[in-house]
Amino acid sequence: MYDLVLKNGLVYIDNYFRNLDLAINGEKIACLGKDLKGKKEIDVEEKWVLPGAIDAHTHFSLPFYDSIAADDFYTGSIAGAAGGVTTFIDFTAQENKEGLISSINRRLKEAKPSAIDYSLHACIAQFTEQVADEIKLLPELGIRSFKIFTAYNKIGRMQNDENLYRIMELCKLNDILVTVHAENGMVIDYLTNEAEKRNDLGIKSLSRTRPVFTESEAISRVCKFAKFTGCKTHIVHISSGEGAEVLAYEKANGAPVSGETCPQYLYLDDSVFDKENGHYWGCCPPVRPLGQQDRIWKCLDNGSIAMVATDHCPFNKKDKDTWGGSINKLPMGIPGIETMVPLVLNGIIEGKIDIKSAIKSISENPAKIFGLYPEKGSLLPGTDADIMVYNFYKDQVITQKNLHINNDYSVYEGLKIKGKNSMTILRGKIIYDENKGWLGKKGEGRFVKRESPNPYFFK
Ligand code: URP
Ligand code: ZN
Ligand code: ZN
Repeated sequence: MYDLVLKNGLVYIDNYFRNLDLAINGEKIACLGKDLKGKKEIDVEEKWVLPGAIDAHTHFSLPFYDSIAADDFYTGSIAGAAGGVTTFIDFTAQENKEGLISSINRRLKEAKPSAIDYSLHACIAQFTEQVADEIKLLPELGIRSFKIFTAYNKIGRMQNDENLYRIMELCKLNDILVTVHAENGMVIDYLTNEAEKRNDLGIKSLSRTRPVFTESEAISRVCKFAKFTGCKTHIVHISSGEGAEVLAYEKANGAPVSGETCPQYLYLDDSVFDKENGHYWGCCPPVRPLGQQDRIWKCLDNGSIAMVATDHCPFNKKDKDTWGGSINKLPMGIPGIETMVPLVLNGIIEGKIDIKSAIKSISENPAKIFGLYPEKGSLLPGTDADIMVYNFYKDQVITQKNLHINNDYSVYEGLKIKGKNSMTILRGKIIYDENKGWLGKKGEGRFVKRESPNPYFFK
């Protein structure tokens, strides 16, 4: 008799749906089979039984100018669980040239209230000799990825090409993944300064000062560095079709690179900036002109972009409103963790992506790229029972009032899609049920140590 059996579901295993029961003992998946008996049994007939989703890009409580992102580690994890996410990866924040270990320890403390499992990418804002020395210590701590920026010079985060190259050399030596926010920061700063002189810093200038080529050029440069150094490299939040295609080209030509996009770049275009409060959609890189989105879908469908994450970084209206009409003062970022799964899986119904690519992009692939597989991102017996029970045919209209995110608007308000998470299980425990709501507990999430990135994605 198993602790819990999900009965008669469509269980996604080895790239196919099979009509099976899934049994859980304690925190682990015990087995898959027919007529399994449990102390507790739940009928999930006609629902999809999928690995819990992984959001590998969140910014809980991120300070931005005078504001702080509206979701903290607890509220953000509730929103994630409601949307089928069982693991997220957030970021450390290096302050005042401090060392990596101290920035990691501080963020680990902040993350403790999380109610779902998590890891961290270590951010390098200032590349000092101490940072260079400490890189080798990270694998032991189970932190296997860095985040670096080729933009944000004005807020002290940008790496120049020399530092980028050195970081990649060191990470290659230590088998650590380098993740890159790839935009050409120098050109963006020049265009922004020029726009300021023209008094042209309204929300529409976000597109003019960060044109598509500033992303695709940076992606191309970073990929070429990756190829020469041999450093496994991952480009985060790819926003343009052109950028996605450049990544595909460099990958096909031997660069050891993977990429992620976010739902906002698949669903939104820059016409949102024509709305009354267009600045509520402000994030970096910005959403792009119509036509770019389908090109990203294609790259996600054919696997040249392997995964989706959210860059979840919501600000309340009052925080966005502190911008005073200038993108130079706008807290950048939008919500995403709760709506990632249904937006990606809705792409199947819309004919944008096949089932296999869609499901892999939100669980198996991020787990493999970030060294969490098979414990996370799989339904293999013996691994963590992190599961999402998904109702693929349920209609939903995305609206702020039904969401658990801690901010006061949704960038997808009114969008009609098919599919909704029905239940989320974290290590054997039901933490969200569409009828009963939130059932998890503050602090029940665990820090997960990660292995090196799966070489398959970086061939
Ligand atoms: O606008 C965004 N994406 N804010 C979060 C910081 C980042 O660049 O990832
Ligand atoms: Zn970024
Ligand atoms: Zn980000």
